[in-house]
Amino acid sequence: MSHHFIRFTGVHYSYPDGTEALKGVSFTATHGERVAILGLNGSGKSTLLLQTNGLLLPTTGEVNVGDVPVTKKTASLVRQAVGMVFQDPDDMLFMPTVYDDVAFGPRNMNLPEVEVERRVTAALKAVGLEEVSKKAAFQLSGGQRRSVAIASVLSMKPDILVLDEPSANLDLSARDNLIKLLDTFHHTILLATHDLEMAKQLCPRAILLNQGRIIADDSTEKVIETFFSVCLRKEQ
Ligand SMILES: Nc1ncnc2c1ncn2[C@@H]1O[C@H](COP(=O)(O)OP(=O)(O)OP(=O)(O)O)[C@@H](O)[C@H]1O
Ligand SMILES: [Mg+2]
Repeated sequence: MSHHFIRFTGVHYSYPDGTEALKGVSFTATHGERVAILGLNGSGKSTLLLQTNGLLLPTTGEVNVGDVPVTKKTASLVRQAVGMVFQDPDDMLFMPTVYDDVAFGPRNMNLPEVEVERRVTAALKAVGLEEVSKKAAFQLSGGQRRSVAIASVLSMKPDILVLDEPSANLDLSARDNLIKLLDTFHHTILLATHDLEMAKQLCPRAILLNQGRIIADDSTEKVIETFFSVCLRKEQ
């Protein structure tokens, strides 16, 4: 069973208040592909990402991770394959220490504590935060919290990485470090971002969302050109 691709087929999603956030989204990201998800504020990027691990389920349409359709029943299985870094790191960090936050996923996978320790140390080192492992996340800066959130997903060694604005609040060196780190991840990546330079550096392909619909799906350079023309039209 391959977990490494993600397929959206005619996905519509309406929030409980009636907001139609996705209006028929279809695309496939295959194994090893890195796809940037671009679009203006409110275009549906986070809503799309939240469907990839069953946190939101389509109102109509289907999401598949490998050959598994994402449903309430399969969500916990799918979450072992899909590592998601949320737009707001505070949604992910709730343990007494940074170490425990990063260990949470591996411990949930019932890994032996030596392996948990190995993974936590490696993940914290990868984001350059070994020295804060005994602190609580709320004692860190916004950028450091985001890095811990990223480490807490890396420690699970996911088959697919889904990242929502991972470079927000990062300083130049932490951002650079993150780009290098993601570049070493050889499986599928979906990256929602307003950081167009990062999208260009990491993702050969981009999808442009506009009011819940895909309006471009092409090389990142071409999609960014289309994005600029959408922004210009909005300003006029
Ligand atoms: N919990 C919610 N309840 C109702 N509507 C919501 C909710 N969350 C988001 N929306 C709406 O759904 C649409 C898509 O929002 P979404 O958060 O997916 O956008 P986004 O592209 O991630 O934006 P941003 O770039 O600001 O992060 C917007 O119209 C937004 O107002
Ligand atoms: Mg968002």
